[in-house]
Amino acid sequence: MEHKVCIDFNSKATALINKLAVLFRTVQLYDIHNVAVISSIKNIMAITNELVEMENEVELELRGDYFYLNDNRINYSIKFLANFDNLTKEFRKLELGSITFLKKVSVADMKQLTESITSSYSSEDPYNSIVEKMTSTESIMLGKIMEFTEDDSLDIRETVKKKYFSAVSFTRGIMNQIKSSEKVNLKKSKRMVASLVEHVIEEEQLILGMTAIKDFDEYTFHHSVNVSILSIALGQRLGFSKKTLVDLGIVALFHDIGKMNVPGEILNKPFHLTNDEWKIMHMHPVWGIRSVLKMRGLDDLTIQAAITAFEHHMNYDLRGYPKMRNPIHQDLFSRIVSISDHFDAMTSSRVYSR
Ligand SMILES: [Fe+2]
Ligand SMILES: [Fe+2]
Repeated sequence: MEHKVCIDFNSKATALINKLAVLFRTVQLYDIHNVAVISSIKNIMAITNELVEMENEVELELRGDYFYLNDNRINYSIKFLANFDNLTKEFRKLELGSITFLKKVSVADMKQLTESITSSYSSEDPYNSIVEKMTSTESIMLGKIMEFTEDDSLDIRETVKKKYFSAVSFTRGIMNQIKSSEKVNLKKSKRMVASLVEHVIEEEQLILGMTAIKDFDEYTFHHSVNVSILSIALGQRLGFSKKTLVDLGIVALFHDIGKMNVPGEILNKPFHLTNDEWKIMHMHPVWGIRSVLKMRGLDDLTIQAAITAFEHHMNYDLRGYPKMRNPIHQDLFSRIVSISDHFDAMTSSRVYSR
C-alpha cells in the first residue's frame, strides 16, 4: 500500500513538472487570457490540489539539478527530460528556488502567479519583482534559489571523495583484522555504510562516479566499497528502506571476504591463472562463509552476509560456482550483489576482470 502511494506521489510530481513546463512555455507566447494559458493553469490547479489533499502542503523545490517535492527527489523517465531541463532553466532565469502551495489554490492566485512571472522576465531583479506582485496571494509562497557557486560544488565533490577514500581505508583495516583472525563485529561498519547510503541518496551521481576509481594494489578494497555503493544504488531503485539499504551495503561490503584467504600471488597475479590457481580462487565463496561466521555476534545480518558471500558467484541459473547438489534459490541480496559485482568487474581495467 505504502509503495502504491509512493508511485502515485511520484507520478503526480512528474505531472506537475510537465504541466509547469508547459505553462512557462505558453506564457511566453500568449497573454494570460489565451485559452492555452487558461487550460494550462487549470491543469496545474488540478494536480496541485490533489497533492495538497494528500500532503496538506506542497513544496516544489529546485536543488542543484534536481526537483524535490516535499523533500523527495522527483525521479522521471527520459521522455520527460526536456520538460525537466526547461523548467530548471526557467527557474534559474527567474532566480526562483521553490513554489509552495500552502493550501488548495484559487484560480485568482494561480493567475496572479502566472502574471507575476510573465511580467518579471525582463526585470533586473526577477525574483523580488515576482514576490512584490504576489503580496495578496494566500495560497502560494515562493522561495529564492540557493546559489550553488563553483566552489560549493567543488566542496561537495571533495567531501564525497574523502568519504569514498575513508571507506576504502576502513575496509582495508577491517578485512586485515579478519585475515589475522581478530574478532570483529559486522556492526562496526554500520556507521560507515550508513553515510554511504546518505551520499547515494543525496549525491548519487557523485558517489557513483567514485566507483570508477580503481587501484591495482588496493583492488579488493576498492572493489568491495564499489560493490557496496552500487548495491545501495540498486536497492534504492527497488524502493528499500534506509535500514535495509544499510544492511545491504554491509553485506555487499563483505561479499569477497573469502579472498583474504587466497594467497596474494594468486589474488594479484596480473596474467592468466592456471587451472589449479583458479580452483583456489573459486574457493573464496566457501571461505567467505567461514570468515563471516567467525565474526563476533552471530545475528541475522551476519547470517545474511554469510549467505551472500557464499552465493554471489552462483548466478541466477546456478551455472556459476560453488555447485550445489540440490538446487536452491539465490537470495535477493545475493542477486543484487552479483549484478553490482559483475558491473564493477566489467568497468575495471584490471586483468582479473576476465
Ligand atoms: Fe567474488
Ligand atoms: Fe567481487
